[in-house]
Amino acid sequence: LITGHTGFKGSRLAIWLTELGAEVTGFSLPAADPGLYMSTRLEKKMHSIEGDIRNKQSVYETVALIKPDIIFHLAAQPLVLDSYINPVDTFEINAQGSVHILEAGMRTPSVKAMVMITTDKVYENYESLQGYKEEDRLGGKDPYSASKAMAEIAIASYRKSFAETGEKSIGIASARAGNVIGGGDFAENRLVPDIMRALFHNRSIYLRNPQSVRPWIHALEPLSGYLWLGYCLLTDPKKYSQAWNFSPPETEAISCRQLAKKIVELWGNDPVIEENTSISTKEMNLLRLNGEKTAELLQWKPIYHGEESLQYTVEWYKEYISRPESDLYEFCVSEIKQYTFLAKQRNAEWAKAYSEHSQRMMCSV
Ligand SMILES: NC(=O)c1ccc[n+]([C@@H]2O[C@H](COP(=O)([O-])OP(=O)(O)OC[C@H]3O[C@@H](n4cnc5c(N)ncnc54)[C@H](O)[C@@H]3O)[C@@H](O)[C@H]2O)c1
Repeated sequence: LITGHTGFKGSRLAIWLTELGAEVTGFSLPAADPGLYMSTRLEKKMHSIEGDIRNKQSVYETVALIKPDIIFHLAAQPLVLDSYINPVDTFEINAQGSVHILEAGMRTPSVKAMVMITTDKVYENYESLQGYKEEDRLGGKDPYSASKAMAEIAIASYRKSFAETGEKSIGIASARAGNVIGGGDFAENRLVPDIMRALFHNRSIYLRNPQSVRPWIHALEPLSGYLWLGYCLLTDPKKYSQAWNFSPPETEAISCRQLAKKIVELWGNDPVIEENTSISTKEMNLLRLNGEKTAELLQWKPIYHGEESLQYTVEWYKEYISRPESDLYEFCVSEIKQYTFLAKQRNAEWAKAYSEHSQRMMCSV
């Protein structure tokens, strides 16, 4: 079961799981148009249920009916700006909604693992130059960040109170990723979709916080991490029931202005990039994640190098704009295949380098 399967990340996860041969059901609000779910005609490939995670009865009944082995919980109000406008809805969806999913998973005997998607914004952000580690203090000044930090506390509580001590063996983990980019995101007031809309119509690009530095990461990276985490939870729930950061290498953190410039170069025209001071967002300037624990214990690392994630993002939007009415399902499948091909190649190189490094350390000892 995927909650939020009509969204930007949830749709791609549904495609990936479907291609792996899983029987996938989704539970979400109706799909937005434009959006990845609509562009890929995903309703033809999977079982989709419309519902609201704030309605606990509906969540319990759906999970009991579907009897999933694993739940990937992505449904959320994911926008910081909207959280200032609708804080109550944001807290209800992100915090209380997550509790409904946790409770439904605990009540349903078939459920063996739950991968709960939160965000890199769950940390108390004092704009540290060091990346935040999983054990760092949770916080969040804006309602979005705070609502996700609340979800994290609920996830840890369910794990400690019921999953670790109860009769049922179930893996519960949270996954924290940075600012996710990739084709198929059409959210309002998000940097890449805003830039793309400007490029589609040859308009100027307005940046709210040009200096803000973010750890940009392509959607396929954290999604591969969620899938791998799900697999690990099913095989060893005790070991992997924790919080995990899924971050790009520290070197990938660049400012919004740098990101906009690179996208414009890849797109191939030359619009004006300006600062938009009309919307005060009170967003933090610096946010970095530390991915060491995930690399060491989960053996997961991002695959794309340098500008590859931006290049693949821009390619998706070029494909979309060149044939907006077409079904982009196969295009998304080819992205996944290319990603897994690169992952196998680069993980093999990584494993070789790691073993040579370990041997050198042994020799020097
Ligand atoms: N995109 C990012 O940059 C990013 C970064 C960090 C974390 N995240 C997290 O990843 C997850 C997915 O984000 P996304 O970018 O795909 O968001 P999205 O807005 O594209 O999708 C959100 C999904 O949640 C569903 N949803 C919203 N409210 C709901 C409700 N009340 N009941 C049922 N379904 C509801 C929507 O229908 C949609 O399917 C979210 O939990 C988000 O907080 C996203």
